[in-house]
Amino acid sequence: MPVGSNRKKLVKRTLRKIRRRWWQIIHRSLWPSRSATNSWEVLPYLDAYSADSDRKVEKGSDIKEKRVNKVQLPYLVSNGLAPEHRLLDIGCGTLRAGRHFIRYLNAGGYTGLELSPKVLDYAVLSVQQAGLSEKRPRLVLNAQKNLRFEQFAGETFDYLLAQSVFTHLPPEHIEECLAHVPSIMHEGSVFFFTFHQGRAYQYDGKKSFMYPASFFTELANRYNQVLRVRDDYPHPKGQKMAMLKLAQPVAQSRTNSVPSAPTPRPHGWSLATPPPISKATLPGPDGTLAPAYGVLGTSSCLQRKTDVLGAKRDAEQIGSACADAS
Ligand SMILES: C[S@@+](CC[C@H](N)C(=O)[O-])C[C@H]1O[C@@H](n2cnc3c(N)ncnc32)[C@H](O)[C@@H]1O
Repeated sequence: MPVGSNRKKLVKRTLRKIRRRWWQIIHRSLWPSRSATNSWEVLPYLDAYSADSDRKVEKGSDIKEKRVNKVQLPYLVSNGLAPEHRLLDIGCGTLRAGRHFIRYLNAGGYTGLELSPKVLDYAVLSVQQAGLSEKRPRLVLNAQKNLRFEQFAGETFDYLLAQSVFTHLPPEHIEECLAHVPSIMHEGSVFFFTFHQGRAYQYDGKKSFMYPASFFTELANRYNQVLRVRDDYPHPKGQKMAMLKLAQPVAQSRTNSVPSAPTPRPHGWSLATPPPISKATLPGPDGTLAPAYGVLGTSSCLQRKTDVLGAKRDAEQIGSACADAS
């Protein structure tokens, strides 16, 4: 690409960032109670995230289809998804990708789970507008907000997908998901999820998270699963795709998947008791416990914000790579 066009792009991007920052400052001073940043500071993480998704859909963003929404169906089909399969789309959003799955799968085959009520309302509407009602997609509001999948007790899915979800979730929610997902998988189920791969854990202070692959591998080992990070996922912004299966026959795996007695956690947090603020709880690029930035293991954004140094540095490091994870 010619140097001139690169420079133009850089100038444009910088101007956009300055404009956005100015707007944030003005917005915050004029309407402090409406400020998005406020909710990240005061609400538990998933409440703030849900409110943020609500706001986005009200503003009309996260509605328009992007390239990433078109690659998901072909990718899963090339990995064996067939019309008769049952798919759980964790964090289905406004169904920008979900619509393609609904069209492809047999009636009743698609289930979407979503945190934000307004996003889900929009999703329901979009099914009608796309003329897909006869496919009877099941769209479930995750009112409990956790990822223990109690809404689906007694059911299993052939395929599970979480596209651009772990990119926005702190470690304790991801661990919760991997600890409980075996309860809705059978021996042949496959769980695909994407993440932002980083050399070490990074958090931007709002809703962008980067993880080294070793973070997921260790969790998978802990919960008796087999995980492979794939190199063939054509995500336009470089998110990595991981593929997870149960390691054991399901009966054994279910009893083993959530240890009843407290056991040492890979990175020093537990689901019941969030760990303290730490700069050394996640593995570095080589899997060792190298210093990692950010604040882990708490749902309090207030606490996370207290790590000003870490969050600011992370924001700089993550930068535009995570500006729009989806
Ligand atoms: C970036 S969007 C991606 C949407 C969709 N997967 C796609 O590719 O278009 C992430 C979605 O996950 C939802 N989400 C995040 N955490 C969730 C949770 N714990 N339970 C259900 N949905 C969640 C968010 O509300 C958001 O709509």
